[in-house]
Amino acid sequence: MTATSNKVVLVTGANSGIGKETAAALAKEGAHVVLAIRNRAKGEAAADEIESRTGVRPELLTLDLASFGSIREAAATFLAHHDKLHVLVNNAGLVLDSRTTTVEGFETTFGVNHLGHFLFTRLLLGALKKAAKEDREARIVNVSSDAHRWARRGLDWDDLQSEKKYASFDVYAKSKLANIYFTRALARRLEATGVTVNALHPGVVATEFASSDDVGFFTSFGFKLVRPFLKTSAQGAATSIFLASSPEVRGVNGKYFADAKLKHPMRLAQDDALAERLWTISEAMVASVETSAAA
Ligand SMILES: NC(=O)c1ccc[n+]([C@@H]2O[C@H](COP(=O)([O-])OP(=O)(O)OC[C@H]3O[C@@H](n4cnc5c(N)ncnc54)[C@H](OP(=O)(O)O)[C@@H]3O)[C@@H](O)[C@H]2O)c1
Repeated sequence: MTATSNKVVLVTGANSGIGKETAAALAKEGAHVVLAIRNRAKGEAAADEIESRTGVRPELLTLDLASFGSIREAAATFLAHHDKLHVLVNNAGLVLDSRTTTVEGFETTFGVNHLGHFLFTRLLLGALKKAAKEDREARIVNVSSDAHRWARRGLDWDDLQSEKKYASFDVYAKSKLANIYFTRALARRLEATGVTVNALHPGVVATEFASSDDVGFFTSFGFKLVRPFLKTSAQGAATSIFLASSPEVRGVNGKYFADAKLKHPMRLAQDDALAERLWTISEAMVASVETSAAA
């Protein structure tokens, strides 16, 4: 028996790459897996594949992290069918060649990689706490990246929406730093609830990440050239699976992992005052949308 057998597990960005392998492995361990996907056809294809590999068909949940409406609807749909959530894997992520915005007008990389998951997680906290209370524990796993180290000067607090300056991999690095700040600030709020949250670097993995649709032909071609030297998606999923299901990390909270081992993120990422600053700003961003919708 692993920590996830007979438990409810939800994975975002579960139709491809690291997310699909994480979902398949946890389904194999006996978890009831929910694939959160933004494209139904891709989700059905992933569910077919996971069913053929594991013998169990995962549930599908439509979720577009670039839309607060979709996030709220996905959370409500999930909660209508499940009162408990044992493991939430916040895995979806992207890098984009040029600046676009989410439905609510946030820069898309920040909006999807950080803010969408911030809102989605908060909407599911009640179900996570209930799972922890009744079944001993619940876990949140945030897929960050060692790419956060490229954001050497940290977040640009005066330009979180990259309106003044946009460079795709710089914006991506900052969104992955935001994943670590979110993990640390949430971990403090979850102390003594039985719910833990940790972040991870999956390695450099050959997936659909940085496709030509997202970063243009040349950057995407560069990624394709190095693919044979990268981790496979299954190898890239190993740390997510470890954090979701291993008894070794029961009770571990607010940490950063790579290769299924505890690791220090860069110094600036360990600054809890900055983590709190991002939390407060993120709350205000979510609230500002609610206020304008009510007006
Ligand atoms: N690959 C690497 O080397 C690497 C290294 C470090 C960290 N990571 C992180 O690992 C995670 C998984 O990436 P991957 O490498 O497995 O890439 P991937 O194969 O491109 O998977 C990314 C997933 O995110 C989903 N997604 C993108 N935008 C979304 C949105 N608006 N709403 C909901 N889902 C959305 C994608 O859905 P669609 O298929 O519909 O686009 C896809 O399922 C990401 O957070 C990434 O930052 C990857």
